[in-house]
Amino acid sequence: RGGKEDSRGALVVLEGLDRCGKTTQSTRLVANLEKLGHSAELWRFPDRTTSVGQMISSYLSNKSQLDDHTIHLLFSANRWEKRSLMESKLKSGITLVVDRYSYSGVAFSSAKGLDISWCKAPEIGLLAPDLVVYLDIPPEKAAERGGYGGERYEQLEFQKKVGQNYQVLRGPTWKIIDACSPMEDIEEHLQEMVLDCVKTCQEGKPLSCLWS
Ligand code: TMP
Repeated sequence: RGGKEDSRGALVVLEGLDRCGKTTQSTRLVANLEKLGHSAELWRFPDRTTSVGQMISSYLSNKSQLDDHTIHLLFSANRWEKRSLMESKLKSGITLVVDRYSYSGVAFSSAKGLDISWCKAPEIGLLAPDLVVYLDIPPEKAAERGGYGGERYEQLEFQKKVGQNYQVLRGPTWKIIDACSPMEDIEEHLQEMVLDCVKTCQEGKPLSCLWS
């Protein structure tokens, strides 16, 4: 193993509370990777372009009501409908930078009181990220950032619970970045971590599945 035939792109996930800077940083990261000659794509979950994604979007903007379990499974289904494309992109050598993934799924739903192992179950078998970067921000600081946009989960007390749940999910593939550092510092630090990870995947690190 480790030969050229096993070379693949990296699956990199950015996680964090609402307004932690994930979207800005993931956009910059993809641009930087491309500048350095790597093929990279920016993905995000929920992917609101699919029909499942549209149901999720309508729920998040309070235009529809759904049972907590139901919406949880829709978020998971939204990842499952992208799984095979994700695998083929990675195998073709493209690095995927993903703005939110299964960790958001579990952290947000369990903040509503759902059992954490129940929340994790539908994620079993999705591709496991090679690297999860958590942009760490105190919930109070996130709330100050230009105010929340008014979506369903953008409330301080709820975000505090989400933050606690993220802590429970931290594992060996996680790296924490202080989201209150200057934007340029975060960008640089993130790029360094990701380039390292891209290299190990090019060298043939095997793909694995959640929850490993
Ligand atoms: P976004 O603002 O990054 O588009 O995410 C929308 C909201 O959905 C955000 O508050 C996090 C939440 N969410 C879940 O509750 N479960 C999930 O599986 C995902 C991906 C996001």
